[in-house]
Amino acid sequence: MYDAAHAAWIGGTKLLQYGELLPGGAAKALAVLAAGARPARGDATGATAGLGQLVLELGMGRGRLALQLFLSGATVIGVELASERYGLAVAAMERLAHRSPEDFEIVHRGAQSVRLRRCGGPKSALYEVRLGSFFDVVTDEEIGVATLVFLHVSLPPPTWSRVRGLVARTRAGCRLLAYEDLAAMWERQPDAPPLTAARGVQLACSWAPEEGHRFLLCERVPEPPGGPASSAHEAPAPVAEGSPGGPPWPAEAARSGAAAPPAPVPTAKALSALSAKAAAKRLGRVG
Ligand SMILES: C[S@@+](CC[C@H](N)C(=O)[O-])C[C@H]1O[C@@H](n2cnc3c(N)ncnc32)[C@H](O)[C@@H]1O
Repeated sequence: MYDAAHAAWIGGTKLLQYGELLPGGAAKALAVLAAGARPARGDATGATAGLGQLVLELGMGRGRLALQLFLSGATVIGVELASERYGLAVAAMERLAHRSPEDFEIVHRGAQSVRLRRCGGPKSALYEVRLGSFFDVVTDEEIGVATLVFLHVSLPPPTWSRVRGLVARTRAGCRLLAYEDLAAMWERQPDAPPLTAARGVQLACSWAPEEGHRFLLCERVPEPPGGPASSAHEAPAPVAEGSPGGPPWPAEAARSGAAAPPAPVPTAKALSALSAKAAAKRLGRVG
């Protein structure tokens, strides 16, 4: 018997060789992202927290954190380059949809994208995974609406200009939790990084299960008067025409997000409900 959260975590220890957050690290990452989060606009109770808000997990591996975020009520896009890990993320979605068809509906959107929808939820109550590079398969519109970005990826210097372009396209208030020091990528650039100083947090990973590895949390600051901090100096990263296998992220979600500054982010209540126990309670046992 597996509960809903467990369905996202199974897969075999050999998979950890590529390096991923351990459950304790994931729980802490979610708590860190939740800290300081504001309730969604017009939601005094927090009951709709996370809905209509977009979290990006760029380099999601087998999608364990992305799925947990979705189970918390957030809308999530997860992107993975390696087809084997992408396949494992899809398999976890299929397990959930199969075990709990009254709660979830799964839609295969071509060979490179799968969407899980919460039955009876609003259109934006979605978890979508995409196979490809996050530089290519996430649209400008989606980056501009995201309120949280998790980027647990090693980014060598040749990628930095594209990373700067990606960060520059996020909205003010977007929180980014990253393996790399994103601000350092503005070294020798004419502009200051458009990010608050990063705060370090130790997260348990497969290669550092006890002491954890230091990740950095920062927030996108508003653009200075006169234009973007650095994007003006760089061509934007190429973006695929629409999402693979279908239209981009629902335009209505994007429009409502874009029209609601400051960016709403999932409440602490929603994100702290992400433990396996809480997710299982919420969804009922499956398996
Ligand atoms: C260290 S793992 C992290 C996995 C997961 N986010 C976690 O924390 O457990 C990094 C993942 O990012 C993927 N990756 C690296 N560059 C990528 C890119 N440009 N686009 C999409 N995925 C990428 C790798 O294939 C790998 O699965």
